[in-house]
Amino acid sequence: MRLIIYTGKGGVGKTSVSAATARRLAQKGHRTIIMSVDTAHSLGDSLNIKLGPVPKRIAPNLDAFELDILHEMQTKWSAIKDYLTAFMFSQGLESISAEEMAVFPGMEMVAALLYVLQFEDQGKYDAVVIDTAPTGETLRLMSFPDMSSWYIDKAFSFVNRMINVARATIGKVVDFPLPTKEVMDNLKELKDDMTRVKAVLDDTEHTTMRLVLIPERMAISETMRAYTYLSLYNKNVECLIVNKVLPPDVDGKFLQVKLKEQEAHMTEIHKAFEPLRIMSAQMLRTELRGTKKLDHLADMIFGDEDPIEVYASESPMKFVTVDGIDELCLKMPFVKEDQVELFKGNDNTIIIHVGSQKRTVLLPMTLAGADLLGAEFGDGCLIIKFRRKKV
Ligand SMILES: Nc1ncnc2c1ncn2[C@@H]1O[C@H](COP(=O)(O)OP(=O)(O)OP(=O)(O)O)[C@@H](O)[C@H]1O
Ligand SMILES: [Mg+2]
Repeated sequence: MRLIIYTGKGGVGKTSVSAATARRLAQKGHRTIIMSVDTAHSLGDSLNIKLGPVPKRIAPNLDAFELDILHEMQTKWSAIKDYLTAFMFSQGLESISAEEMAVFPGMEMVAALLYVLQFEDQGKYDAVVIDTAPTGETLRLMSFPDMSSWYIDKAFSFVNRMINVARATIGKVVDFPLPTKEVMDNLKELKDDMTRVKAVLDDTEHTTMRLVLIPERMAISETMRAYTYLSLYNKNVECLIVNKVLPPDVDGKFLQVKLKEQEAHMTEIHKAFEPLRIMSAQMLRTELRGTKKLDHLADMIFGDEDPIEVYASESPMKFVTVDGIDELCLKMPFVKEDQVELFKGNDNTIIIHVGSQKRTVLLPMTLAGADLLGAEFGDGCLIIKFRRKKV
């Protein structure tokens, strides 16, 4: 199953490009589903069709839905939701806001990832397209499977401590409810699912990220950061889609100036991101909405190509051995040496800090106890060197 995730700065055209891609995939004969994970959904508006929180057929080979986290909590995680609501209520929140508060930030992402697993298990679709909220949310989506085990382990140890406290204070009233076995089982299941999700997201042959941007300074900077962080999380960024490019024959002084500015930014984009595949779509004169215009957008981006294609599938993270020294090579575009911090973690891990992001990389068993020799930059990659322990 092919999984295509679109991300980019607010308003650059993620939803339009996702919808156009999904329609084109379906037209090419692929059984396709498009899911919107943005809480401020606009997928239905873009397609000019009313969408709900469950998948529905909107065209031949094409299903669509807008994920609604409250609906997911009601229908799938009622045990966890009831517990969290009761917990919030015990802490003095009104029950209605307690219910809303029981939704943690990033939970939409978890729900979206669980759908991906469900689609993979069902074998019902050849392609899944995800339209996400602006970049920050997507980074959370990508880092969540890594983080979730940690969170869930913490939740387990917290609950175990609470159960002990409850035992110690037997006869007295603990001022919040303890989770039931069902809640704990659900959490355990969630942890196992996230391990599987991680495998799907890390499968660079099938799962890819596509970055949408417009030829403007702030969008370029945000896209550079996203590219760096996604590489850090070992996610395959396969192409860039530059949207809202002014046609060369624009009239009027105002647009002429804008065009010049865009041209300079286009040169910069090519210089910065190549050899990454760069596609583009022109700015339409009228609002881009409805299936006809979306198909026109797909024509501009993909021409005759099939969007199911994987434009690049090289993993951003590789382990190699050079002259008896083990090297971990991490693609890290746009990063300077002094922006990176490396730490040796517990349990055979290394921790890499870049800007505000942090990634814990679990080393292969062969490197258990290996000496960290140092690190260097070469060819946009961070190369971390190890010497294995002598047996
Ligand atoms: N090539 C284009 N030509 C003209 N208008 C466009 C084009 N692409 C997108 N738009 C318009 O720009 C607006 C934002 O597009 P869209 O909703 O797809 O962006 P988004 O990145 O999903 O935004 P958000 O971050 O709010 O989710 C919409 O009104 C859309 O119709
Ligand atoms: Mg959108």
